[in-house]
Amino acid sequence: MSGNCNIILGIETSCDETSVAVLDNGTVNSNIISSQVVHKEYGGVVPELASRAHMKMIVPIMQEALAQADVSLEDVDAVAAVYGPGLVGALLVGLNFGKALAWARGIPFIGVNHMEGHIYSTFLEDEKPEYPFICLTVSGGHTDLLFIKEPLVYERLGRTRDDAAGEAFDKVAKMLGIGYPGGPVIDKLARDGNPGAISFPRSYAQAEHYDFSFSGLKTSVLYYLRDRDLLASDGKPVARSPKLNDICASFQEAIVDSLVEKTRRAVIDRDVKHVAVVGGVSANSRLREVFQLTASKTGVKVYFPRLEYCTDNAAMIAYAGWLRSQRGETSPASLTAIPNLNVA
Ligand SMILES: Nc1ncnc2c1ncn2[C@@H]1O[C@H](COP(=O)(O)OP(=O)(O)OP(=O)(O)O)[C@@H](O)[C@H]1O
Ligand SMILES: [Mg+2]
Repeated sequence: MSGNCNIILGIETSCDETSVAVLDNGTVNSNIISSQVVHKEYGGVVPELASRAHMKMIVPIMQEALAQADVSLEDVDAVAAVYGPGLVGALLVGLNFGKALAWARGIPFIGVNHMEGHIYSTFLEDEKPEYPFICLTVSGGHTDLLFIKEPLVYERLGRTRDDAAGEAFDKVAKMLGIGYPGGPVIDKLARDGNPGAISFPRSYAQAEHYDFSFSGLKTSVLYYLRDRDLLASDGKPVARSPKLNDICASFQEAIVDSLVEKTRRAVIDRDVKHVAVVGGVSANSRLREVFQLTASKTGVKVYFPRLEYCTDNAAMIAYAGWLRSQRGETSPASLTAIPNLNVA
């Protein structure tokens, strides 16, 4: 395959979003996302329900993506679908759908690593990071600090040793009984709270390495709530405003401090001028604010995806697939889902 795949159909089904996008030469023409609501009552994603919902939605979402981009299946030059990491049943739906589509049309198929997709979500904007850059991926399942020297080449500097940042947001929201996913709710409540009200720990703040840890922070919030009889019971919040706002703001500040500090040090150590912050938690308003402040003081430019591209979406998958297709890369029909795939 040569580098003349212009129109790419991207497919994302790694967790609880069914998404299909159409990109023309790296420009997003459509990006349709169906977020599964079926999991809300369980306070987390139920894998089997996720697979079933993907099966139900994949065809209508693809049709909507094609219609919005004003192209037909015959116009598509290549198909890119996510093959890991993620929930195996959920991955299999999009991956097999994508492979079958490409095979039926006789066009190339490219399997995409979901985390590589997140990295390139900042490239969907007009202003893109320049190489080399540092990428902080903060999502529901990952907290990765990467050095990206050139396109599609990753060096891992650090990662979380326990919970991912998004997971910590979701678990603390559960303790507070304020709903799932927890990130957006905590973000909102924290706006009316005092980030200095409670001193929660910043793990590894002084450590030489670039790894993160959020389980100590989570336990600290748990003890704080338990000791004051504020733990949610039956999913109903016990804490009342303004205490709830202060808890959210103080917890969020501890996460933001840890993320910004390690990234700041990586930027200095690797002598880069560009930073990308991607994944669901990159939607966090306080994280964006502190990153912008820190970056402006040091002459560094920081890039965030727009909110639509922070959480799972097919546009980022199509973009990474397009980059690989330009190098002549394709994936074999035997490619299968890899739930624990790493990016570096
Ligand atoms: N405004 C916000 N502030 C903090 N966290 C947020 C915000 N918006 C979303 N999140 C968090 O982002 C996470 C979802 O992000 P994303 O969809 O990238 O994760 P995922 O795809 O489930 O995980 P992964 O990409 O690691 O496989 C959830 O944990 C959610 O709470
Ligand atoms: Mg994701």
